[in-house]
Amino acid sequence: MIIVIDGPAGSGKSSTAKTIANRLGIQFLDSGALYRAITYLWLKGGKPDKAEFFENLPKVQLQTEYRDQTFFVQADGEDLTDQIRTQHVADHVSEIASYKEARSFVNRYMRNLVTEGAYIADGRDLGTAVFPDADLKFYMDASLEERANRRFLEMRETDQSVSLEDVMKNLRSRDQKDQSRENDPLKKANDAVVIDTTGKSFDEQVSEMIQVIKGKTTLN
Ligand code: DC
Repeated sequence: MIIVIDGPAGSGKSSTAKTIANRLGIQFLDSGALYRAITYLWLKGGKPDKAEFFENLPKVQLQTEYRDQTFFVQADGEDLTDQIRTQHVADHVSEIASYKEARSFVNRYMRNLVTEGAYIADGRDLGTAVFPDADLKFYMDASLEERANRRFLEMRETDQSVSLEDVMKNLRSRDQKDQSRENDPLKKANDAVVIDTTGKSFDEQVSEMIQVIKGKTTLN
């Protein structure tokens, strides 16, 4: 069983998916973390030639696990969970995620993983390209202003120098890259249930989605 949530950066997909996974006792799969892991490996290798890097990538043993509200990622036994969240990785991940070789590696990993058990996964192209036959598809959205404001408040807890203007600029550029890339751009699937979280509390959006899940799947 696979439930997918697609949507733009900052729409609250992963925190919502984690909470739903905990409430329903299912697994959480973070596809962005897999693109981040590949990006980390490329940077760690000293930004090697892309053709050579992608040729060797299938030899890497990726392992993932969701527990304690955290999506853990390992590559060849090295724990990358924290390293994939750095600004350095964030600055390069859009480029790496735009390569079809990166997309086929991540997609193969995810399709193999979900063959057993129940999962809720979040990303950009899960309902359109990766799991077109998903049991249920959501598309989460919120206005740019609201997404920027949420991210700004979150980031300000650890970095007082961050400005709302910069956060909005960064999100606008990520939206543009995610929606305009040639390979599997961010797009709402025709059969996705749209959840617009503008003006909604976190608890409201989670409850609304759990109700939809209970109505449309065998989960309860
Ligand atoms: O959700 P995130 O910010 O962790 O995603 C990191 C990057 O990976 C972001 O640039 C979008 C990209 N991504 C993607 O292209 N396809 C997905 N299914 C998930 C993420």
